[in-house]
Parts: sequence; C-alpha cells; structure tokens
Amino acid sequence: MALLDKHKILETNATLLLVFSLLVVTVGGIVEIAPLFYLENTIEDVEGMRPYSPLELTGREIYVREGCYVCHSQMIRPMRDEVERYGHYSLAAESKYDHPFQWGSKRTGPDLARVGGRYSDAWHVDHMTDPQSVVPESVMPKYGFLSDRYIEPGYVQDLLTTHRMVGVPYSDEMIEAADEDFLAQADPDSDYDALVERYPGAVVSNFDAKDGITEMDALISYLQMLGTLVDFTTFIPDASR
Ligand code: HEC
Repeated sequence: MALLDKHKILETNATLLLVFSLLVVTVGGIVEIAPLFYLENTIEDVEGMRPYSPLELTGREIYVREGCYVCHSQMIRPMRDEVERYGHYSLAAESKYDHPFQWGSKRTGPDLARVGGRYSDAWHVDHMTDPQSVVPESVMPKYGFLSDRYIEPGYVQDLLTTHRMVGVPYSDEMIEAADEDFLAQADPDSDYDALVERYPGAVVSNFDAKDGITEMDALISYLQMLGTLVDFTTFIPDASR
C-alpha cells in the first residue's frame, strides 16, 4: 500500500509525471533500437533475390515517376485475407534492393507485390492504355502515352552505378553490360543468354509489340518480375530469427 501511495505524488504533479514518462519511454526506446546497431543483418537472405535488370530498373523509375505507389502498395501483410488474395506475404528480402521501397500506404488499386506473370504483356498494354477497357469500373488513369515515349539505354549505366552506391550489389560486369542487357531484354530475337545468366528469371519479350523500346516496355518488364523471384513452393522461413 505504501508504494501505491507514493504513486500519488506522480499523479498529482504534472511536471514530475512528465519527467518520469520520458524516462520510461527512453528506456523502452533504447531496448528496441540499440540491438539494431549490433546485429550484422536484420534481413534474412532468401534464395532467388537478385538486383533489378537494367530494363526493369528503368521501368521501376517510371513507376516511381508516375506515382503508381500513390494508389498501389507492394506489401502483402501476413493476414489470411491478404494471403488468399495476393499470395505469400511479403518478405523483407523482397524489397532489399528497392531504393526507395515501394510498400506504399494506400490501396486505391490492388497490391502489386506479386502481379508478375499474372497477366499477359498484351493485357498490361491494354490495361495501361485504357484501364476501363478491361475493368469497366476502374478509376485508374490512362497511361497510353508511355507507348509513344521511346527510350535509349544512354543513362542506364549511371542508374545502376547510383544504385550500387547505395548498396545494391551490381558487379562491374553488370554495369559494363548494362546497355546491351537493356536492349536484349526487350528483343526476343536477340542473344539474351548472358542477360538471363546475370539476372536469373528475367522475362525477355517485346512487351508492347512495337519496334523500339518504349517506356511501356520498361514498365511492363518491371511489373512482370514483381514477386516472381522467390520460389514459394520451396521457401521455408527460418524460424530461429
Ligand atoms: C488513381 C489510382 C491509381 C493510379 C495512380 C494507378 N492505378 Fe493501377 N489500378 C487502380 C485501380 C483502382 C485498379 C483496379 C482496377 C483495374 O484493374 O483497373 C488498378 C489496377 C492495376 C493493375 C492490375 C492489378 C491486378 O492485380 O489486377 C496494375 C498492374 C496496375 N494497376 C498498375 C499500375 C501502374 C503501373 C500505375 C502507374 C503507372 C498505376 N497502376 C497507377 C488505381 C490506380
């Protein structure tokens, strides 16, 4: 009883209560934050994850530029309704090469973390050009202009180098071959073996079925790889972490 009586001193003195609350929050904060500085890695490595190919990375830049993240998340939470709709919940490792990450905070449209391979390239072209032509009630804006904007690999080496600066493990070979990989991925008639060796699972296609490489090609190459790198039929989460 005596101890509880002392608590009354705190409860009746606003300044003292504030000081003690701060003390408690500080201890709690340190306990949560300090270990992060001593852990070697907070992300469990997962087989299959690789850096984005030059074309995918370019498509990702367009995704960011157009603000797709304003309406679409890329983070499937481990709740039953989400897992049944979108597939396996997202792993930290799946966005470890994302700078900045695209988790999003609003779902006007569906989550896109595992949209790769779900639709054909042609469906994506139709949908991006005129979403209402395939989903009549859609409120998604039209992005047809992306098909008219031709892009050159010119700056893609710089793009890869920039991402390497912030920690994405692009090798010298990847950066050197960036231009040819960029071109090869959008041309199924090209010699793309080296590209696929560098970026396993990269989808090679003339995504928009037009000559030349457009922003539409790049964006769809990015969409088609989302969520396809980790094989969830063989993935076993490491419960010890
Ligand atoms: C104003 C909000 C909005 C914006 C901005 C937006 N979308 Fe959408 N998106 C939607 C809605 C709503 C749907 C669901 C209806 C449909 O399929 O059109 C959708 C559906 C999609 C789908 C189909 C997903 C599925 O699983 O069926 C893809 C792919 C997609 N959007 C890609 C994009 C990309 C890429 C961008 C940026 C270039 C973008 N969206 C921008 C609202 C938006």
